[in-house]
Amino acid sequence: MSPPAVIGLDLGTTGARAVLADVSGATLAVHEAPYDLHTPRPGWAEQSPEDWERAAFSAISAVASRARREDDIRAIGLTGQMHGLTLLDRAQQPLRDAILWCDLRTGPQRRELEDAIGVPTLVRHTGNLPLEGFQAPKIVWVRQHEPDLLERTAHVLLPKDFIRLRLSGECLTDVSDASGTGYFDSAKRRWSDQMIDMLAIDRAWLPEIRESPEPASRLTPAAAERLGLRPGIPIAAGAGDQPAGAVAAGVVSEGDAAVTIGSSGVVFAAASAYGAAPDGRVQVGAHALPQRWYLMGVTQAAGLSLRWLRDTFMPGTSYDQLVPEATDSSPGSRGLLWLPYLQGERTPHLDAEARGALVGLTTAHGRADIVRAVLEGVAFSLRDAAQAIQGVGAAVDRFKLAGGGARSPLWRQIVADVFDTPMRVEPEGRGPAFGAALLGAVASGLFASVDEAVRVTAASHETITPSAEGTAALDAAYARYRDLYPALAATSRSAAAFQAAETGDA
Ligand code: XUL
Repeated sequence: MSPPAVIGLDLGTTGARAVLADVSGATLAVHEAPYDLHTPRPGWAEQSPEDWERAAFSAISAVASRARREDDIRAIGLTGQMHGLTLLDRAQQPLRDAILWCDLRTGPQRRELEDAIGVPTLVRHTGNLPLEGFQAPKIVWVRQHEPDLLERTAHVLLPKDFIRLRLSGECLTDVSDASGTGYFDSAKRRWSDQMIDMLAIDRAWLPEIRESPEPASRLTPAAAERLGLRPGIPIAAGAGDQPAGAVAAGVVSEGDAAVTIGSSGVVFAAASAYGAAPDGRVQVGAHALPQRWYLMGVTQAAGLSLRWLRDTFMPGTSYDQLVPEATDSSPGSRGLLWLPYLQGERTPHLDAEARGALVGLTTAHGRADIVRAVLEGVAFSLRDAAQAIQGVGAAVDRFKLAGGGARSPLWRQIVADVFDTPMRVEPEGRGPAFGAALLGAVASGLFASVDEAVRVTAASHETITPSAEGTAALDAAYARYRDLYPALAATSRSAAAFQAAETGDA
């Protein structure tokens, strides 16, 4: 019999990544097809759904063509960047470029919604605030600035679900991605009627909802022909990239959390019961497993902090050269502190006007101290996110470390020391696309449940244990770091106002 295989597709922010995996968890092929991010004005972030489609189809067909002749591709699972707004007309054609999760234009619309509806009501209906990145304030923005487009709107989709439409002809989404729209009732795992009314959304625009591992739709003959796959194979409902990444890392049960250092940094905890922060400071949603939820804290500029430092002051230096330099400094960076708010901050401050800072400089400091301070500052912001999550009642006692930052031995040690807890390091390649492939495997019946898929495909981990010296020094530095945000809040606000006036956004 042919060995079964599955494809996972991650429609990311920089490109579409497809993986072909087998039921042992081995990756047989990977392909990434990039696309552009458009910034028509400072702070805006848009992408063309047609570019997504081209890249997604080319990534899927590339891994399909690299399958061994005997591999039997049984299913596709979808994941992708969350929150983005894709508006389609009656002919299912995009009405404009999609507005992405990292687009910051909707500050005024978020404030309008919070003032008009009130934080307690928003949290009661959705578990979340209508954050700038979410669809809810984006729909309000389109209504205010491009009203003719809403009149022609027939479908509102999340990014990965636009690809599903092209693969299957169906408008569907999954509970975990829907949780990041701002009008989904994460507790009951269905659209919120109250929010839909308050946002004046036409219900006919919205896709149907499925649980993530459900075989929600099937590959059409036309799409199958373009991809070199069998028509009719199931397409799992899938998940947002963070919940799918959590499935890949085995973060599916209460007590498990993933700390991911990518461009942004995320602390993601699995929960067996629904719970939300009364002030909405932690993102909550339905996890990619039935009857499980997630709590998520996001720091905006994690890897981005290091990239900014390098590209601005040390262009041409590789991370492999740069990061080890920090070992010439010492835990606590000799009194230097980095506040990583280069793009405002989500958790715990939810403040788009927060600004970055390097504090404590003297002539005695050198490059090693600055690099180390940046690595430590990012770890402190992740500790803030973890504390916010634990404040909602999630008892986390097992941490996994993932993303590009987890590849650096020094950064891993700093995170383990700042959290004062052992960190299990996720092997490379176990990202959201792999999680989506596992959801595809469950959808096609290769596993009975997501729990089983995670158990069978679990990979071995390296564990980083905290060091006594690092933990003591970094605990003291974290206490000083905590003082910075309130101390600098007024200065940050006036800097943000000055910057907005300069770019014409005031
Ligand atoms: C999650 C989030 C990002 C995006 C893009 O809330 O904003 O993870 O999904 O990766």
